[in-house]
Amino acid sequence: MAKALDGVRILDFTHVQSGPTCTQLLAWLGADVIKVERAGAGDITREQLRDIPGVDSLYFTMLNHNKRSITLDAKNPKGKQVLERLVKHCDVLVENFAPGALDRMGFTWERIQQLNPRMIVASVKGFGPGPYQDCKVYENVAQCAGGSASTTGFDDGPPLVTGAQIGDSGTGLHLALGIVAALYQRMSTGRGQKVLAAMQDGVLNLCRVKLRDQQRLARTGVMQEYPQYPHGQFGSAVPRAGNASGGGQPGWIIKCKGWEKDPNAYLYFIAQAPVWKEICKVIGKEEWITDPDYATPDARLPRLLQVFATVEAWTMTKTKFEAMAELNQHDIPCGPILSMEELAAEPSLRATGTVVEVDHPQRGKYLTVGNPIKMSDSLTEVMRSPLLGEHTQEVLTELGLSDSEIRTLRAEKVI
Ligand code: COA
Repeated sequence: MAKALDGVRILDFTHVQSGPTCTQLLAWLGADVIKVERAGAGDITREQLRDIPGVDSLYFTMLNHNKRSITLDAKNPKGKQVLERLVKHCDVLVENFAPGALDRMGFTWERIQQLNPRMIVASVKGFGPGPYQDCKVYENVAQCAGGSASTTGFDDGPPLVTGAQIGDSGTGLHLALGIVAALYQRMSTGRGQKVLAAMQDGVLNLCRVKLRDQQRLARTGVMQEYPQYPHGQFGSAVPRAGNASGGGQPGWIIKCKGWEKDPNAYLYFIAQAPVWKEICKVIGKEEWITDPDYATPDARLPRLLQVFATVEAWTMTKTKFEAMAELNQHDIPCGPILSMEELAAEPSLRATGTVVEVDHPQRGKYLTVGNPIKMSDSLTEVMRSPLLGEHTQEVLTELGLSDSEIRTLRAEKVI
């Protein structure tokens, strides 16, 4: 079956997580992604967090599926010549080097345009233009600088980073969208363009409900759905909201049967207003249906923690799956806290290709997360990540280099 991005060639100069997430998505959508790595070393994640000595790490393999790998010293004059051919050959160059690295290599925007005016140059950087534009940035720095850490955690604790890689993978997703939009625009303009996704911007975009709350707080001095209301204090900045829901329907994480021993025996429970009557019936508090202190969402706001404690007394008599099944019979929104162990074993995720088992020549079988975007006419087949330089000969031959030229480059350690 044809793929959405068949025929699109990506010069993949990415490393670590943010850029590779982006190019992996494009590869899953059908693009030919040629990952350029330094000979002898490669993407640093090949050797980070290794679980098998000498074998590409899961960190690397899980971020580089469906790509081809070539080795090339991009600072060597002969390597630069090969890179120039690649720039002419490809549609998009994606990079997430530290600021200025591509320019220092000699591949400025102007130079790339001379070589290939149709080329789209897509970059992840830590920050956009401004005081921090020259800084190197990793995931957690972005979470902190983008507003996530200050709004995550509990009121009486320090700022917290989240497990979801919103700085790296989140920004990779933003960049991928920018790239496909630029490819679409190029169909009418014939021109490439620069696409920038800054990690701070990406995290802030994902935290936009907190900027909403900042302005609500500035206007009213209080946010009634936050756990600080009505007994705690609000300062001038949006506080950490614990497990309070970010939307208009209050929610909280509550214990289920077995919580004493199982750290994930919990359920996210939402006291959605339209099903308040059903909630009261299920937990055995029918009197709350008409009690003026509980009957309306506004009346419940100052009593939310008590409401959740009462629901919890009920959920503690059931496993999270039993509670979920029963609540869903009444259309009451809720969700179990699922561990990675449970997700890895979940048959429905295997059936949809969201969790996939891949075979790797060095490490054997391992699990990965497949393409979360499902398309009816562009199905994703998850292929293993390439070994370092596995496709150097193949790609250089496609670029028109002869076998003897390739042998010379190899002898001179350019590839
Ligand atoms: N041939 C020759 N040189 C190469 C090369 C190749 N194939 N690939 C990379 N290099 C060089 C670069 O040109 C750069 O050289 P320079 O510093 O002399 O200009 C050097 O390798 C190191 O690149 P750099 O990006 O600075 O790596 P780093 O390990 O020092 O920093 C990051 C890593 C992630 C902090 C940094 O790349 C960064 O801030 N990136 C942008 C934000 C980002 O994506 N962060 C999230 C990462 S998950």
